[in-house]
Order: sequence, then C-alpha cells, then structure tokens
Amino acid sequence: MQGLGTDIAVIHDTDFKPAEVVSALAGHFSVRQEGLDGPQGEEASRADLYVFCASLSSDIAFRRVRFALKGRDGEKLFIFRTHNSEAVARLRELGIEDFLVLPLDPVELRTLAKAAINRRIERAWAALHPTKHKALKNSLACFEDCFAKVQNGEPLPIEAISASCRDIRDAAKLGGLDSWIEALDNHHNYSFRHSMFVCGTLTYFANAIGIGGAELDQLTVGGLLHDVGKSQVPLEVLDKPGKLDEGEWKIMRAHPEHSRVILRANHGLDADTVAMAVHHHEKLDGTGYPDGLSGAQIGDHVRLMSIADLYSALIDKRSYKDAMSHEAALDLMAKFEGHLDMDLLGAFRTFVLDQG
Ligand SMILES: [Fe+2]
Ligand SMILES: [Fe+2]
Repeated sequence: MQGLGTDIAVIHDTDFKPAEVVSALAGHFSVRQEGLDGPQGEEASRADLYVFCASLSSDIAFRRVRFALKGRDGEKLFIFRTHNSEAVARLRELGIEDFLVLPLDPVELRTLAKAAINRRIERAWAALHPTKHKALKNSLACFEDCFAKVQNGEPLPIEAISASCRDIRDAAKLGGLDSWIEALDNHHNYSFRHSMFVCGTLTYFANAIGIGGAELDQLTVGGLLHDVGKSQVPLEVLDKPGKLDEGEWKIMRAHPEHSRVILRANHGLDADTVAMAVHHHEKLDGTGYPDGLSGAQIGDHVRLMSIADLYSALIDKRSYKDAMSHEAALDLMAKFEGHLDMDLLGAFRTFVLDQG
C-alpha cells in the first residue's frame, strides 16, 4: 500500500506566483510546486495532474509550455490570469481542454482536479483483467447513480445494483484483493473508493471461505450499499481535509440512520442487507451506534461488515493520515475485543495474510 503519493505538480512561470492555487489544493491532494523551466523531458517530475499557471499569450510562451509538457503524461489543467482567446486556441492546439481564469474559485479548481485525476485512474483500469475492469467501471457508474437517485428522492436502481454486484463477484473469483484495492487507491470519489474497498474485501473474503449463492449476493450488495446514508452528509463534512470537530462527527454519525430510511423505502432489499448498512457501527459490548445493539442482537453478516469496514478505513489513506499496512491494521483490530467478533477476525486475518 502506498503512502500519500504526489498527486499534483503546480508548474508556474516566473510572473505567476501560485500560492493561492497551492493553498486551494493542499490538504485535499498531495501538492508540490515547480518552476516552468525546471527539469524537462526524461528528467521531468511525474504527477497525476499538472496544473500550469503560465501564460500562453505569445509564441515564445507557447513554445516554453510545449517544451515543459514533454515527458509529462499526467492530466493537465491551465490557470490563466486573464481570459485571452488566443491563449485558449493555443491550449486546444496542445490537446488540453481544462482551464480556469482568475479570480480563482477554490471549489471549482478542486472539482476539476478531482475529475481529471479520476479520469486518469479509471483509464488505468483498462490494463487490469477484463473482468476486473468491467466490475470497476460498472460499479462506479452504479454507485454514482445510487447517490444521485437518493439525492433526487428517487428509488435505488435495484436491477443495476444486482448486475454490478454480479460483476464484482465474477472479479472476486479471480482472487487478488490487492490489485482491486490498488486500482481504487487514489480515486478521489472518497465514498465510492471506500465502498468498493469494503465491498471488494467482503466479497473476496466470502468467496475465499466458500460462501456462495444467495448469501454471497447479500454480502456484495450489502458492501456496495453499506454507507448509502452518506449521500445525505454534506460534502464539506464528507471530504473535509482534516479531522472532524464534534458537530461534524454528529452529522457523520447520522449516516446509518439515513441508510435505514433510504433502504426501508426500497422494498426490493432484504432485511439482512438493510441490517448490514444500519448496524455496521454497532459493537458487541453495546457501545456502538445507532441502536446500541449488543451480543446476539448483531448477526454474522453485520459482524463481518464491521470487520471489512474498519479494515478498509485503516488501510486507506486520507489527507490527515497515511495508509496502514495490512499487518498493522490487523494487529490494531485484534485489540478491539468487545467490539469485533474475534473468531471471524481470526479467519479474516488468515485470508488477508494469505493474499500477500
Ligand atoms: Fe459507515
Ligand atoms: Fe463504511
């Protein structure tokens, strides 16, 4: 598992001081700043996205930028100080679509940056086994559709969810949970990334220990939808680059209640799938939420879900924390006696360590 890798290089000419650009991106991404005339070609730095703060208003400026683009195959985004149709035409000549003009809207910049980085990650899925590629592509479309439908007050696309989960189960039959996690690692739709970490972890694990048929279907659908209530949590809280304060935590901790309302309104889903979403933050000793369930009130699928959810959160990176190694995550989870089912955790540990 990688640490917080470099996502964005902000490349600027001498007249453009990019402090405002860097501070709009910092925290949300890993960012570094470079001069336009820094190392080029083979020596050029690598990034997922290059944000150029540079003029294209003259032929000389155009040639300098074109030279700086050589050897940099990440996504590109330009920021111009003023709108200039000639500069935009030159940008198109370079095959680049995305640009912004000052004054900077930090939210707009981050939205464009996330979309560009996600495009790059999604393109890289084509190099995976076609079954995994299909599963990732379809689950992204399905996941985005689920969140959009909930936000519009429409029913969940149950058919599309079933089809997507079938693809994920086909991918799991191939094994290799690591490559699934790695393919999602830098995706900047955090809710999608997390849900796919959880869904993949559950499905690959269940598949490995011989769970099949309708039970496996339930676990995959449960994993995909387990945080559907987060569609009701404001993006400022969901994507906050840093730890949540008390008020924000309260908002975040309401997501299982939102899931309950959403999933109960969708009658195509069985009670077990709903329970996985509503109760995956319950703890065996009764100290969890939202219902303070304990012991036998918490079923096996919910117990499994809690393990997959916590493991996925620990091995994932956020802007305020590095990713934990598999071993460190499992060692930490072993200390959560009273919260997690230790027998299931033992089987899960064996599965994860067997992956390596
Ligand atoms: Fe959750
Ligand atoms: Fe979760």
